[in-house]
This record gives sequence, structure tokens and C-alpha cells, in this order.
Amino acid sequence: MDFYLGVKLLHILSATLLFGTGLGTAFFMYRAYRSENVEAMKVTTENVVLADWVFTTPAIVVQILSGVWLTQRLGISYNSVWFVTVIGLFCLVGACWTPVVWIQIKVRNLIRQNRPINEYKSLMSAWIALGIPAFLSVLVLFVLMVYRPWTQSIIFAN
Ligand code: HEM
Repeated sequence: MDFYLGVKLLHILSATLLFGTGLGTAFFMYRAYRSENVEAMKVTTENVVLADWVFTTPAIVVQILSGVWLTQRLGISYNSVWFVTVIGLFCLVGACWTPVVWIQIKVRNLIRQNRPINEYKSLMSAWIALGIPAFLSVLVLFVLMVYRPWTQSIIFAN
């Protein structure tokens, strides 16, 4: 099997996990929160925190390593507008996702201590506010991956 295509397949599979599982767990967490059913929130937050360790974290590592390797193999300059935009968006996703993981663990722990929902309402508002730019950025990344604009536009020409 062509090694390059194998890496590309891995890259696309991890992109699928990042976006698909990420959106799925966010949906269930949001629905459980809106239900104000503490038992539902308890089970959901336990599994959302677990899902981020089992699925999202490895997918992020595979995404960036396979992405840089694919970029290098395609001869796309790390100085290109495409690459700098992709890395910039990827960092934005990370900057949104990191506090989201912290919030999910905090909310899970508050629910374990049977704290009232009012104690984590503002945390959940921040969770929603961080989730929107993160998912929109991943959508833009998909577009940048398929259309691959600006790979020949060099930012800092020598
Ligand atoms: C959440 C982030 C990302 C997603 C969702 C994503 C998704 C994808 C998808 C779906 C493809 C296949 C496109 C096609 O065949 O037309 C692809 C290809 C590619 N990705 Fe990513 N990617 C992401 C991050 C990255 C990063 C961070 C880099 C670079 C550091 C990167 C570099 C590449 C390259 C070079 C290809 C082209 C491979 C080829 O066509 O042979 N990707 N990506």
C-alpha cells in the first residue's frame, strides 16, 4: 500500500474523529444541560471527559503530525499563506478547545459533588461561546484542505 496514501487516510480519519466525535459529544452535553436533568448531566459529563481523552486528544496529535508530513511531501512551503492560515486556525481551535476541556472537567466534578446547576451555568455559557468558533474553524480547515488555495503565495519572500 502506498505509504503516502496511508498517511493521508490516517489524516482524513483523524479529521473525521475530531469533527464528528467532537460535534457528537458537544450535542449530547448541550442537550443534557438543557434538560436540567442532573442524572443525565452526570452520565453525560463523565463520558464527554472520557471521550476527549480517548478520541479527541490522539486525533489532534495525529492531525498535526500527519498534516505537517503531507505538507512537506507535497512540497508546500511552510512560508505559504495556505500553511500559515492552516496552522493559525489549528492553533485557534486548540486555544478554544483547551479551556473547553477544563470546563467539562470542572462541571463533571461539580456534579459529582451534587452542586446545584446554578453553580455551573456561567461555565456552560463559556463552553458554548468557545465551541462555536472552534467548530467554525474546523469547517474552514476542511475547505482549506479540499480547495488548497494560496499554496503558492509566499508570505516572507527571500
Ligand atoms: C482540524 C484540522 C484538519 C482537518 C479537518 C483536515 C482535513 C483534511 C482533509 C479532509 C484532507 C483531504 C483533502 C482532499 O483529499 O482533497 C486533508 C488533506 C491535507 N491536509 Fe489536512 N486537515 C486538518 C489539519 C491539517 C494540518 C494542521 C495540516 C498541516 C500542518 C494539514 C495538511 C494537509 C495536507 C498537506 C493535505 C493534502 C494531502 C493530499 O491531498 O495528498 N491538515 N486534510
